[in-house]
Amino acid sequence: MSTLSTFGSATFDPAAFDPGTSVAGLALANPVLTASGCAAAGRELGRLIDVAALGAVVTKTIMRDARSGRPTPRMAETPSGMLNSIGLQGPGIDAFLATDLPWLRRAGATTIVSVAGGDPEEFAELAGRLAGEPGVGAIEVNISCPNVANRGLVFACDPSSASAVVSAVTEAVGGRVPVLAKLSPDVTDIVAIAGAVLDAGADGLSMINTTLGMVIDVTRMRPLLAGLTGGLSGPAIRPIAVRCVWQVHAAMRAGILRPAPIVGIGGVATGRDAAELVLAGACAVQVGTATFHDPGTPARVATDLAAVLAGLGFARFADAVGHAHTVLARETEPNR
Ligand SMILES: Cc1cc2nc3c(=O)[nH]c(=O)nc-3n(C[C@H](O)[C@H](O)[C@H](O)COP(=O)(O)O)c2cc1C
Repeated sequence: MSTLSTFGSATFDPAAFDPGTSVAGLALANPVLTASGCAAAGRELGRLIDVAALGAVVTKTIMRDARSGRPTPRMAETPSGMLNSIGLQGPGIDAFLATDLPWLRRAGATTIVSVAGGDPEEFAELAGRLAGEPGVGAIEVNISCPNVANRGLVFACDPSSASAVVSAVTEAVGGRVPVLAKLSPDVTDIVAIAGAVLDAGADGLSMINTTLGMVIDVTRMRPLLAGLTGGLSGPAIRPIAVRCVWQVHAAMRAGILRPAPIVGIGGVATGRDAAELVLAGACAVQVGTATFHDPGTPARVATDLAAVLAGLGFARFADAVGHAHTVLARETEPNR
């Protein structure tokens, strides 16, 4: 039996709301996913929640070889967020395929595997291996890592490097699973980078990764993180994420970019936070930093998001995607 609730002045029946969505052909039971690096490969989370009930588990970024990440200290609390310089710590692709992926399959999780490499060839090798594995629903290409051949310039900050990685990946994947390119907000023109990766064959976009920040330990009068800089995440970056999703979705509506699904990421801790990204144009959202505080956050956000959208009068999640653009267009129509 469903329970009637209220949101604002409206009364609604959450059971009548259709939360289903899909990302480039990958059907999701609900639009709330874990964010890469914030739920490992799902096993730790699986002790606390039912990972099969999530929209999807997005794994920590996998690289070819096992890596221990950057030196400590590599986390700092910041106002409304955190700074991390974990680096791409992980067991490497062989261990992932031997242990983590079989676990995710047995647990019934919809799985998106995040990959990174030091050059386009490493990205392509990983993506090619993963695309043939049962249980891999999609590949998220984490291009926010340094390009070994180009003075460590981050792939995501340069349209031609971003494009080179994504075309190598899409060629290796050969359409077997959708490829999502994960963008960095640390660029002057996010629409230009989105255009470059879509032209290179990306099936969708995940945005945003963390934004570069730094903390000085005033007592010790030196940078707090051993890696000096780190990625800022949490509620502090939500307005940046909303802006990026808005700009890219607007460019799609205007015919400047090919239409493609956008997965919104950045500072989501509540249903209302997620609704901001959805109304700006995201067809799914990921929850990262908030999961550290409460591993139940993604499931709670999914329930709350349904309540928020149903309370606004939407019968289907899909109808809410990008709706803030429609409202704005109506308001600015001539001769209203
Ligand atoms: C501790 C930590 C580790 C992360 N590791 C990865 C990673 O391996 N790959 C990746 O693409 N993003 C990584 N991210 C970025 C998140 O996936 C996400 O894009 C970002 O944190 C913004 O979302 P949030 O504000 O909900 O955390 C990491 C973030 C944090 C906080």
